[in-house]
Amino acid sequence: MWVSRLALRDFRSYDSLDLDLDRGVTTFIAPNGWGKTNLVEAIGYLSRLRSHRVPHDLPLVRAGQGQAIVSAKAHRGERQVTAEVTIRAKGANRARINRTGVRVREILGLVPCVVFAPEDLGLVKGDPGERRDWLDSLLVARNPRFAGVLSDVEKALRQRNALLKSLKQHPNPGLEATLDIWDRAFAEAAAALVIGRRRLLSDLAPHIGAHFSTLAADARESRRLASAEYRSRIDYSTIDPHADDAVVRAVDVIVEAVLSRREKEIDRGLTLVGPQRDDVELLIGDVPAKGYASHGESWSLALALQLASWDLLREDSGNPDDQPVLVLDDVFAELDTGRRARLADLVAKAEQVLITAAVGSEIPQELVGRTVDLTTVASPR
Ligand SMILES: Nc1ncnc2c1ncn2[C@@H]1O[C@H](COP(=O)(O)OP(=O)(O)OP(=O)(O)O)[C@@H](O)[C@H]1O
Ligand SMILES: [Mg+2]
Repeated sequence: MWVSRLALRDFRSYDSLDLDLDRGVTTFIAPNGWGKTNLVEAIGYLSRLRSHRVPHDLPLVRAGQGQAIVSAKAHRGERQVTAEVTIRAKGANRARINRTGVRVREILGLVPCVVFAPEDLGLVKGDPGERRDWLDSLLVARNPRFAGVLSDVEKALRQRNALLKSLKQHPNPGLEATLDIWDRAFAEAAAALVIGRRRLLSDLAPHIGAHFSTLAADARESRRLASAEYRSRIDYSTIDPHADDAVVRAVDVIVEAVLSRREKEIDRGLTLVGPQRDDVELLIGDVPAKGYASHGESWSLALALQLASWDLLREDSGNPDDQPVLVLDDVFAELDTGRRARLADLVAKAEQVLITAAVGSEIPQELVGRTVDLTTVASPR
């Protein structure tokens, strides 16, 4: 898959931009603050319906404007499609496919893209929420059905927490019966999510290990295997996530877990266990990366996570024409020469790679492609 044209209206710093893109490697060079990340963020947004750097859409709309439009023409072999999203500062977003209005979620999967950016260091060093969001976003990218599962979990949690809060204030047996119903609804959505996440992690694991070892080939850490393990206060260890009955069994385990904590949960007025509290522990050898890994190791591991997700999306399509676009935003500056060369080697075979850098000399010479001086194409302010 590759994007031949990107159009932005009032997106971030751009009032209007129409940019033709090529297959293969394109490098955008411009000084700090010129709008390089804004540009690639727009493609990333079309892919996942969320920004890779902010949790909400509002900052994506140019200051003082009511809405932003991102549109891309995507090619898969002979087929082409134009996907467009209108991000509204107030009110629900809108989407069009080939100029026909559709539900926003239908855009998911049309312009698959994996963005690697400095913010991804948070995957290794940051809070569990960052790792959960990354995993969930990949889950949805691989299978848009999970967008529904995620909103079911959120809704059940909201209802359950509201009930727990009322029960804390006014004990009421009638309300407790309603809580039983929400326990079940929560457990059903949560089980689908947890099993989905665990399946995804087991698919990712070999790719994470391989990319980390390749990137770190000449360093000490290359002898240690990088891995990722699902961590939860609920014990799912007896459930094989790939088994047919995995979700059904996880429902029972979650119902049991919330029932055994009911008194505590009423006392706190909050759901204390479930996927909203789980984490993915990243390890280098048998040492947790968070709190132990060096800056360079953390960076390689974050990169390995994103390259692994790119592999999975590529594998899923089963079609060599259907690779996700790969975005490397400001990545090379952080890497030593060996890592730069090995990363260049890895991505050179991608159908479309968009690279940004403030300084052209950071880009390894192996990455021959088109270089765009963004200052001659766009003047975002
Ligand atoms: N909603 C918005 N409205 C107007 N301007 C914005 C908005 N969001 C971001 N900007 C501006 O966009 C500019 C460009 O940001 P961007 O992150 O794309 O720069 P960059 O070229 O990637 O820089 P760096 O090399 O430092 O990473 C910044 O000056 C920022 O203030
Ligand atoms: Mg940037």
